[in-house]
Amino acid sequence: MMHKHILVVGSINMDIVVQVLEQPKAGETLLGSDAVNIPGGKGANQAVGAARSIGPEVDLAVAMLANVGTDGNGKILKDNLEASGVDTRYIDAVEGSSGIALITVDQRGENMIVVSPSANGKLSPERLKTEMLEDVAIVVMQLEIPFETVEVVAKAAFERNIPVLLNPAPARELPNEFLKHLSILVVNESEAEFLSQVKVTDKQSALKAAHILQSMGVETIIVTLGSDGLVWLDKDASGSLEGFKVDVVDTTAAGDTFCGALATQLAQGTNLEEALNFANAAAALAVTVQGAQPSIPSFSKIEDFLNAS
Ligand code: RIB
Repeated sequence: MMHKHILVVGSINMDIVVQVLEQPKAGETLLGSDAVNIPGGKGANQAVGAARSIGPEVDLAVAMLANVGTDGNGKILKDNLEASGVDTRYIDAVEGSSGIALITVDQRGENMIVVSPSANGKLSPERLKTEMLEDVAIVVMQLEIPFETVEVVAKAAFERNIPVLLNPAPARELPNEFLKHLSILVVNESEAEFLSQVKVTDKQSALKAAHILQSMGVETIIVTLGSDGLVWLDKDASGSLEGFKVDVVDTTAAGDTFCGALATQLAQGTNLEEALNFANAAAALAVTVQGAQPSIPSFSKIEDFLNAS
């Protein structure tokens, strides 16, 4: 690859989405809408979020290191990434099924998600090749692939002075040695709570959690708070942003859209506050459309929205 690029290492899923009035309780059976298959997966969504948010004159590309399965979904998911501008040369088709996410979305647009990793679970550390890190401006990862792979990629990137943005979802314990290899941690309320042990109820408690996470070794912490915006903390300063007021249809992939757009901005050298504002707008637009990847806005949509706000 000749020009600078963003490397996303993560999952690709086919989301099976059903709309419900309310989320089911344990042991309850509910009738929902017809099921629809929608391309998703935190890694793929973040790659699409990054690719679609690149401006017209910007020399930046997005590549993804990932697995799909040899089932019918594998080709659909890979083709969809290509159509969204993601370089898929490091995506292999491995024997068996592609990742699947079972998603119910309620009338408030909130979701419940269960992921069956399948091919994502077979993304081994050996798949990282040195050349994949050449000309990389930033590495973006989540936790829907084997953790050993995330650790190996983070260490390799760190050793080459490449910043690593981690969205630790689904949340799990993170070893101190691993945290030292990260530059940016993007967490929602529940991930912030899980990792910091601070109950996050508002911006003040989110900032407290961010300070604890920073003390674990990551320089920049961003806590996203849904419609309430976000708080951020880096080595010199901290701040917050309000959420944009929009009509919520489906919150699926809003966080992924945020991470992808943020990575694109940071890879271009935009300062953190400006980059966060852009990513916040992209995430706001994502909640106004149903589904994961269909909801991820283009650069021009984000620009128009920011100009109109
Ligand atoms: O963050 C949303 C994503 O989580 C969905 O697209 C689903 O595939 C799961 O990975």
